[in-house]
Amino acid sequence: MSRRKLIAGNWKMHMGPGEAGPLAQAIKKAVMDVMVADVTVAPPYLSIPEVVAALRHTGIQVAAQNLHWESSGAYTGELSSEMIAAAGCTQVIIGHSERRQYFGETDQTVNKKVHAALRVGLAPILCVGETLAQRESGAEVAVVESQLEGGLAGIHEDDLQRIVLAYEPVWAIGTGKTASSDQAQAMHGAIRSWLRGRYAGGVVSSLRILYGGSVGPANAALLLSQPDIDGALVGGAALKADSFARIVEAAG
Ligand code: 13P
Repeated sequence: MSRRKLIAGNWKMHMGPGEAGPLAQAIKKAVMDVMVADVTVAPPYLSIPEVVAALRHTGIQVAAQNLHWESSGAYTGELSSEMIAAAGCTQVIIGHSERRQYFGETDQTVNKKVHAALRVGLAPILCVGETLAQRESGAEVAVVESQLEGGLAGIHEDDLQRIVLAYEPVWAIGTGKTASSDQAQAMHGAIRSWLRGRYAGGVVSSLRILYGGSVGPANAALLLSQPDIDGALVGGAALKADSFARIVEAAG
């Protein structure tokens, strides 16, 4: 089963209005000749309009980094999936470990957000991953399976088709310490086999599982050559057009 790879840049809290447009333009220039994979960028909320405008008609998708599960209401500081879709996003990152760690996200809130994204046709990029202590105690697969169980509660086969998963070991994020290609492949394989126990084979075979955690131009090709690694969720190296484009190229 060949899955088209997806390279997604998570800009986190970088590139505000005025900075995001130029980066999007530079990415467009650098990536257009090497579009051997699907490409997504996820700017901060406020920068979404200028990034959407810069990338119109390029095929490069724009994702939000979070959303609230209600459509509207008294939720100060939040944005709904309806608003994010109306701004021109087609995807949304959900359950990133930084949100779980610093903003109290749980598998239950993550699950509500997955449903809210699907409600308006946004493709969720659902993140899972263990901490260093969990890996050192040998619990990494159990932790990830329980995040999947919670995050995908009530998600049926037709919905699964629209979801992208991202495995991001917390200890590899922003640390320069990447999971080895063997460690990453082992977890991606475990995720796919967990899914096979719950969903029809065809849907599971076409579902993309991205790896994230210190992906850069130097390690991307090896990671992306693993059979169950279908792309990358890139943080730091997505903030420069040149390094991001080299990661896209490595997906070819
Ligand atoms: P880094 O690539 O900076 O390690 O970040 C990974 C990440 O968290 C992407 O969502």
